[in-house]
Amino acid sequence: MRFPVGFLEEIRARLPASAVVGRRVKLKKEGREFRGLSPFNSEKTPSFYVNDQKQRWFDFSAGKNGDIFNFLMETEGLSFPEAVERLAGEAGVAMPARDADAEKREEKRASLYDVLELATQFFEERLQARAGAAARGYLQNRGLGPELQRRFRVGYAGPERAALKEFLAGKGIDHEQMIAAGLLVTGDDIPVSFDRFRERVIFPIGDFRGRVVAFGGRALASDVPAKYLNSPETELFHKGSLLYNGAEARKAAHDAGTIIAVEGYVDVVQMVGAGFAHTVAPLGTALTERQLDILWKIADEPILCFDGDKAGLRAAFRAVDLALPALLPGKSLRFALLPGGQDPDDLIRSSGKDAMEAIISAARPLVDMIWVRETDAHVFDTPERRAALEARLRDIAKGIGEESVRRHYLQAFDERVRAFFPAPDRRGEGRTPYRRESRERGERGDRGRQGSQARRPIAVSDALRRSTIMSGRSSLPLRDVALVMTMVNHPGLIPAHLDAFCHVEIASPDLDRLRHVVLEIAADGEEWEADTLRVKLGERRLGPLLARLDAQIASSGHWPAGPVASLQDAEDGWLQALTLHRRKGTLHKELKDAEAVLARDPSEANVARLVDIKKELESSEGTEALIEGFGASSGRVKRIF
Ligand code: UTP
Ligand code: MN
Repeated sequence: MRFPVGFLEEIRARLPASAVVGRRVKLKKEGREFRGLSPFNSEKTPSFYVNDQKQRWFDFSAGKNGDIFNFLMETEGLSFPEAVERLAGEAGVAMPARDADAEKREEKRASLYDVLELATQFFEERLQARAGAAARGYLQNRGLGPELQRRFRVGYAGPERAALKEFLAGKGIDHEQMIAAGLLVTGDDIPVSFDRFRERVIFPIGDFRGRVVAFGGRALASDVPAKYLNSPETELFHKGSLLYNGAEARKAAHDAGTIIAVEGYVDVVQMVGAGFAHTVAPLGTALTERQLDILWKIADEPILCFDGDKAGLRAAFRAVDLALPALLPGKSLRFALLPGGQDPDDLIRSSGKDAMEAIISAARPLVDMIWVRETDAHVFDTPERRAALEARLRDIAKGIGEESVRRHYLQAFDERVRAFFPAPDRRGEGRTPYRRESRERGERGDRGRQGSQARRPIAVSDALRRSTIMSGRSSLPLRDVALVMTMVNHPGLIPAHLDAFCHVEIASPDLDRLRHVVLEIAADGEEWEADTLRVKLGERRLGPLLARLDAQIASSGHWPAGPVASLQDAEDGWLQALTLHRRKGTLHKELKDAEAVLARDPSEANVARLVDIKKELESSEGTEALIEGFGASSGRVKRIF
């Protein structure tokens, strides 16, 4: 039984701890305390203390302490109420009259379960009766057949105003009880109360002992204001501290090694139907702190399942914020993100349980979600922005309550930032660490999680800059040089390729300027000979640049861009360079996109895609020499770009 507030205090105030303990242990006053030999161990040096100010005793030999009630419980084996009763007698404090009201409340509470059980049976029966045909059809259509209906005790509330009310009244349940169970709609402006659930499919909600404590009702019609209607908070139903399917999922979680939280009732039912018995859902609200604690009592790393769309991500980020302060060593969350706009119910029905299994096993750790949130749709092109990212991540880590988890987060963020923005002095290490890591991941494959904590997005553009494609021995990219210098040496080609020549992207500012001047001169309309063009370019102070480019062409051996090539070879060479340039432009852009995607979502698939693009970029270097027939008119063999 519960004792009224202040009752125990009253007893403690009247009975000094030293008086109660002193009847069993010989105590000697020492300053503010009393000291004696432990009643729990035989000892020679007294290590047992009693403090009347604190109203407590401390036993250093046995490592125990407590108040006067505990003392009797420990030394005489009394139960707590027995200890209270004994000491109340000694203190002369009257035991509280067996509170008639409280007792009645207790009784009512107990009978509320019975009322809800009766209601559950009523709804179940209605669903299977003739009146439930349409509701059964609805459920069948949604893939919830008879077996799942039975398993979840799904029911049906018809359109009548007071069917349940009358049924319960017939069973001797009084009006007040029905209201306390949350089954009726009442109010000052409602003269006659009526059934809360009407024309809905009913999902009974159980507590962790499996007793029905509330209902969730799914509207059958689509024009109803609330798609789902839930029981109000009652003495038995506290929606923030229960989970739909909690009792069954807790049992199943033991074997599964984890627990999954989805958003809706129907999602839970489908998940269980698909073999994920360890699935729960919150009850019409976003996940609460209390529910999170419950999940953590059941599993170390519960998996939260959200839509991959914006709203779903927002919900996921909310859960991240909820979890951070409460993280403990070994306790975390994982996030399974469903393809945009789908919930588990949709996915299981459209793609089957294997698709769902794939989503669950690809669940990503909390640290990934934070990284995604902080880097997605951000550009880190200045030192200040990178520093701001670092500062944000540090703040987030500081929000973690537990010291060692916090330290490891700080470290993990630090590593990610460094991997994301490699320092220039790490040039030459190139792609090696990245490759090694990705191979290791593939081999390890630990329970489908594949060491995602170790995943490190890499700064691909840096790697690309270092690669053979972009470097070369010369100061300007040879292909760009060829694209411009072919036209300088063979201006007769300009009219036929004017559009492409105008628009091809030339990265080097020097070459770009040369191209523009060439185009300006060409726009004069005269057909220039190469020599005259060179004179005109000289007048525009482009002589030194031309000399440099001539030298580069000569030393590279790429003769089709030089003056000696036949017009045909020059044109072939130019077109080939253009094709490769465009293709690499596309690949380069794809690479950048893949890089961005990877930063947002460092999944295996995205890593693989990136590796593919890089391979193609590198191999495209080799394919350039394979274009047949090239160089025939000049009788030479060309050199690759
Ligand atoms: P959703 O709107 O995502 O619906 O609500 P759902 O679960 O996919 O429902 P179906 O598939 O259309 O039947 C998710 C959860 O939010 C609560 C319910 O618990 C629901 O399962 N909810 C939703 C309400 O409580 N009231 C509402 O009006 C809507
Ligand atoms: Mn749904």
